[in-house]
Formats: sequence, structure tokens, C-alpha cells
Amino acid sequence: MPSLGVNIDHIANVREARKTIEPDPVQFAFLAELGGADSITVHLREDRRHIQDRDLFLLKDTIKTKLNLEMAATSEMSKIAKEVLPHYITLVPEKRNEVTTEGGLNLLSNEDFYMKYVKDLKESNIIVSAFIDPVTSQIDCAKSIGFDCIELHTGTYANSTLNNQFEQLQKIKEASYYASDLDLLVNAGHGLNYQNVKEIASITIMNELNIGHSIVARALAVGLEKSVREMKTLISRK
Ligand code: PXP
Repeated sequence: MPSLGVNIDHIANVREARKTIEPDPVQFAFLAELGGADSITVHLREDRRHIQDRDLFLLKDTIKTKLNLEMAATSEMSKIAKEVLPHYITLVPEKRNEVTTEGGLNLLSNEDFYMKYVKDLKESNIIVSAFIDPVTSQIDCAKSIGFDCIELHTGTYANSTLNNQFEQLQKIKEASYYASDLDLLVNAGHGLNYQNVKEIASITIMNELNIGHSIVARALAVGLEKSVREMKTLISRK
């Protein structure tokens, strides 16, 4: 079965909505690990809209599993990554106005740049992954650039209607086996939830699934009743 990487960016989203100290993603990483997370994923965005540099350094020092740092391929991020030394890095495209990562990297348009960028990170002994669409030309390019790993973008599959979900699933399956035959480690993520994850998890060579939104949404659903009850007890004047 694949490992589960839990993306905790949304915990930081709630904190940043008030610019306060809670909820603290570092504490929630600990809870995710208690629940069985095999790794903790955070995306340090250029605009720091959710995860902050402080979170990253504390997570590296405190988590018991592995830290997967998602980041754009910029010189600022490379400098930070070399200080933090996460277990692995997933390079993602980043646009300032997007709500979440839209689509995979286009490695074909920038092969030389990525070759230098990845080589430099690998010299610090960090495993480097590329978030790409399930397309053979991008997989070939990831291999020739020197990535150790790819993360296949499952967003199109997750957003597909029942009519074309099978077709999208086939694309991910074929891309997964294609990449595995090239000796690339294969992860997948984006939009995976409690309804659509099983089919992706059953791809035999799948190494890890990275899931954030649906897990945090489910945490609210299973936790809100208890948190209201606790507040009710506090104001009951007993
Ligand atoms: N993988 C990558 C590269 C991402 O950018 C994200 C979203 O931050 C995820 C996985 C997790 O996606 P979701 O929050 O939809 O589960």
C-alpha cells in the first residue's frame, strides 16, 4: 500500500486568517503522525500566505516521520531548502493569484534550468520530486533532468465527472507504470478524497499519496461537535 503524506497547509490557512498563533501546524503535524501519517507535507509559498519559515524549521526539528517541502524552483527557496534540509522536495509551479497549485510543471519548456536546479539540490542529499501531469513527455523529461521521483497530478481525475473518471484514472495508471519502468519513484496527489482515493491507492507501484484538503475538512467534521461541547461546558457557570 502507498504511504500517506499529510499536507497541513490548511491548518496554517486558518491561523493566518487571524494572523495569530493558533492553530499551530507544528502541533497538528504531531496529531497527523499519531493518526499514522508517513510524512508531513508543507508548501512554503513565495507570498507566505499559509506556511511560514518558522513552521518549516520547527517541523524539521520535531516531526518523527519525513518532511516533504513543496516549493517553487526559485533561488530564495533553494537557499531555504539547503538550510532546512527536508527529506524531500517537490517542485511545483506557483502563481501568485491561484487558490491552489494548478496543473503540473512544464519541464519541457525549461529543461536546462531544471537540470542545474535539481543537481544543486541533490548535492545536499535531498530527494527531489517533480509535480507533473500524467503525460509521458513530461515523465521522460523528468527522468532526463535527473529527478529521483515524480508526483502525478490527480486534480483532473478528482474533478472529472463520472463519465470521464475512468479515462482519467487510466491516464494516471499508465503514467505511473511508465514512470516506474524508468526507475522513477511515483507519488500522486491533489484533490484526492474519501470517495476517490481507493482507485489511485490500488495502483501497485504507487509510493505515496499526498492529501491535504479532504483530511483537514474531515477533521472539522469529526471534531467540531466536541469543540462546541467543551465551550458549552466552560460557559455553563457550573
Ligand atoms: N500535491 C501537491 C503538489 C499540492 O500542491 C497539493 C496542494 O497543496 C497537494 C498534493 C494536496 O492537494 P489536496 O489539498 O487537494 O489534497
